Amino acid sequence: MKQDRLAIKGARLVGRLEELAQIGAIDGNGCCRLALTDEDRRGRDLVVSWMKALGLAVTVDRIGNVVGLRAGRTAGAPVVIGSHIDTVRTGGRYDGNLGVLAGLEVVATLNDAGVTTDKPLAVAFFTNEEGARFAPDMMGSAVHQGALALDTALAAVGIDGETVGDCLNRIGYAGPEPVGTMRAAAYVELHIEQGPVLEREGVQIGAVTGVQGISWTELTIKGVSCHAGTTPMAMRHDAGYAAAEIACFVRRLAHEIGGTQVGTVGFLELAPNLVNVVANRARLTVDLRNTDEAVLRRAEERTFAFLDELAAREGVEITRRTLARFAPVDFAPEMIAMVEEEAQGLGLSTKRMPSGAGHDAQMFAPNCPSGMVFVQSHKGLSHNVAEYTAPEHLAAGANVLLKVVRRLAG
Ligand code: GLV
Ligand code: MN
Ligand code: MN
Repeated sequence: MKQDRLAIKGARLVGRLEELAQIGAIDGNGCCRLALTDEDRRGRDLVVSWMKALGLAVTVDRIGNVVGLRAGRTAGAPVVIGSHIDTVRTGGRYDGNLGVLAGLEVVATLNDAGVTTDKPLAVAFFTNEEGARFAPDMMGSAVHQGALALDTALAAVGIDGETVGDCLNRIGYAGPEPVGTMRAAAYVELHIEQGPVLEREGVQIGAVTGVQGISWTELTIKGVSCHAGTTPMAMRHDAGYAAAEIACFVRRLAHEIGGTQVGTVGFLELAPNLVNVVANRARLTVDLRNTDEAVLRRAEERTFAFLDELAAREGVEITRRTLARFAPVDFAPEMIAMVEEEAQGLGLSTKRMPSGAGHDAQMFAPNCPSGMVFVQSHKGLSHNVAEYTAPEHLAAGANVLLKVVRRLAG
């Protein structure tokens, strides 16, 4: 059958990944395209130009999500292939980008073969998936799927003090399309695993069962600045010390809970940040994740109780602000099975596994059948310039994506 012979062109996919990676390129083969920066804009412009060249009808919505639509034989809700092209500040070239560019590769393959699917197809990239500049993460897909109000997202203030709304206007991606008007018949996302499991076990394809819950809290600690040489230890209200205790607590807590529990203090700023001045202010973030909502909630409760105890003990004031909170998400059983079957049909080995990272797919999951395909990440590295996935794994994942999309779209 003609359908079974269709295969993506790996070199074309790798070529696009490399070209996109030149925008915001940083030392070590990495990328810095923080959401809604000029680098993000240039990356967006390039992907939009590819979408148009492939004949997709491109729309931009008010939160800057970009959708390229390919008509089907019938009208109605499209099968959406999505992900993101923003990166963390020290990101690699695959996280997110693979899912979007593999979507374009699927379209190019269908175009070359003259195949029209029954249902329309859409390739989409969503604004600020990373959350590294503006919280929460998965911002564009959350607004798209009605999990976050547009106004709240537009008002979000980034780590550099700018708002999402202002930045969208500045880079020219505050689109005219109302949010959430496009419903998806199904949603599928190819992504690198970003962890070590597939490579360690020698498995080619991950059939993703769901995404673990995410809790992000920003803490601001107010202490008292004083002289580092003259102030007795017992008289200090040291915001820097309190921040350090929190980082140690979070790590101990994750070890103690075990299982899938992880805990990270990835952002820490001290003021005045000088060698001989006790810090009077600290700002830090706590990232807690677990596949089990009840356990995640207990981890949060224990952290917050520790903060109260610490504040009283050290005589500092600790205020907290929720940056992101997403419950664990299960993908539709038929989507998990479909990824598995289509991969195995291509002779690829598979493993069912949860995702440790957040993904746009989790925002679609409550509203339409949603699923994800994982491919190996070399040494499990991601959010690191050294992120790498070999071309044969990229191609394998894109071929599974093609198969799944064809099955969904008819
Ligand atoms: C998003 O990439 C996250 O999982 O932090
Ligand atoms: Mn990603
Ligand atoms: Mn990421």
